[in-house]
Amino acid sequence: MSRSFYVTTPIYYVNDVPHIGHAYTTLAGDVLARYRRIQGDNVFFLTGTDEHGQKVEKAANSAGETPLELADRVMKRFQALWEKLNVSHTDFIRTTQERHKQGVADIFSQLIKQDDIYLGEYEDWYCTPCETFWTETQLNEGKCPDCNRLVDKLKEESYFFRMSAYQERLLAHIDANPDFIQPKSKRNEIVAFVKEGLRDLSVSRTTFNWGIPVPGNEKHVIYVWFDALTNYITALGYPDRTGNFKTFWPVDVHLIGKDILRFHAVYWPTFLMAAGLPLPKKVFAHGWWTVEGQKMSKSLQNVVEPNMLIDRYGVDAVRYFLLREVPFGLDGDFSHSALVNRINSDLANDLGNLLNRSTAMICKYFDCQLPSCGPMSDLDTAYREKSVAMVQSVDSLMSELAFSKALQSIWEVISAGNKYIDETAPWTLAKDPAQKERLGTVMYCLAESQRLVYSLLAAFMPSTAEKGLCYLGTEFPPTADSLSWGKLTGGTKIIKAEALFPRIEEKGE
Ligand code: MSP
Repeated sequence: MSRSFYVTTPIYYVNDVPHIGHAYTTLAGDVLARYRRIQGDNVFFLTGTDEHGQKVEKAANSAGETPLELADRVMKRFQALWEKLNVSHTDFIRTTQERHKQGVADIFSQLIKQDDIYLGEYEDWYCTPCETFWTETQLNEGKCPDCNRLVDKLKEESYFFRMSAYQERLLAHIDANPDFIQPKSKRNEIVAFVKEGLRDLSVSRTTFNWGIPVPGNEKHVIYVWFDALTNYITALGYPDRTGNFKTFWPVDVHLIGKDILRFHAVYWPTFLMAAGLPLPKKVFAHGWWTVEGQKMSKSLQNVVEPNMLIDRYGVDAVRYFLLREVPFGLDGDFSHSALVNRINSDLANDLGNLLNRSTAMICKYFDCQLPSCGPMSDLDTAYREKSVAMVQSVDSLMSELAFSKALQSIWEVISAGNKYIDETAPWTLAKDPAQKERLGTVMYCLAESQRLVYSLLAAFMPSTAEKGLCYLGTEFPPTADSLSWGKLTGGTKIIKAEALFPRIEEKGE
């Protein structure tokens, strides 16, 4: 039976349109999902939209729409972008869907029943943009410590979740599971935060209506983060514990940005503990993108719109750039010139040229029929060994979510391929009929190594990989079984490749 693998992205707020920050988390999820599928896993890849809460209600009011109209409109923009980015999610959950609302109400009722949620009164500072309560001491000169905006004083009757009761269990869990929160620096931050003491958490609001009503007390709506986090199980059919829930929970990895780590590494695990459900295996917080050195913001008008990037540079170039440029987990900077440099040097020069040169030679010297592999020289063996080692190293790097390093190790083999051509000098071999077999072996090694390269790239750049494999006479998508050396057979029809990535002759902006 195949292994099951469950990966999620955050569900995106519908008060904002998608930008590269959102695209980044979703792409990382897609690459992982595609990679696990190649390895033969039964994959569930979830994304969706977070449609409740005061923030959405306010945005709808100012747009002159109902919150649901706003959600319907913006949700479609996310879906359209995922399609354009070639994202292969299994399901798209909206928090306004019945399946979700019922699941949230169910878990909330259960926690009330067992007294993990109780009715009390709240007085504290609230940051609406962040949907977060702060104590007086947490404020930064009277402002929200996360976004530095003004906060409001709120006093309201509220349901509370007994988060304080789970402090020690959470610390013990983090301690016993070193991979639970990643990267490590983030894990340390969370441990320090929990050790300072967990307070009970306000999990309902009475000051606005746009949310899931508290079962049995409709004056209250459920706190948007309680609502949103639960999507990860309602999408699997919870409270029904058969079917997808049984197959896929606990989740293998929640991919999130560093700004929402506390919700995923403190709130969510304690909700799950209270509900008696297993905790996520891993929560991975990636860094933030700045743009040309500056924070991306509407007011600076520097928000990078992914649709524009795709139209200009192509979907696979964007996918490659975002995952290659910055090690996953660190902050990074987006600039057009960096993107153009990557396209020209990594994609057009290294990757594209190697395929062009190789397929052109196979067509010229062997009439587009792949020759068989004859006896191998030291050069050939070294090239083969490097290609085979790449498959192993990509596998272990992918399990660490080290996307950029995985791409680097693929590119080492691409560079080795270009060097191999220079060293074996096929054009010289071609002049001597006695070297025909030797020439054939060189061509075989080039094709076979690149078959492995494109098979791995299928996770990162699916349409490029499909083209590459087609030129090499191989089927798409690749399978785990195809990830070993020697699968191409002599006589395979090779197609002379067109330029996969034409050079971009523009100055970076
Ligand atoms: N709705 C919540 C998540 C609920 S999950 C149960 C939310 N939504 S969001 O739309 O504001 O953000 C979603 C994701 O986009 C977060 O992971 C966030 O880190 C990411 N990014 C938003 N701006 C970003 C950058 N500039 N750079 C990288 N990622 C960023 O939070």
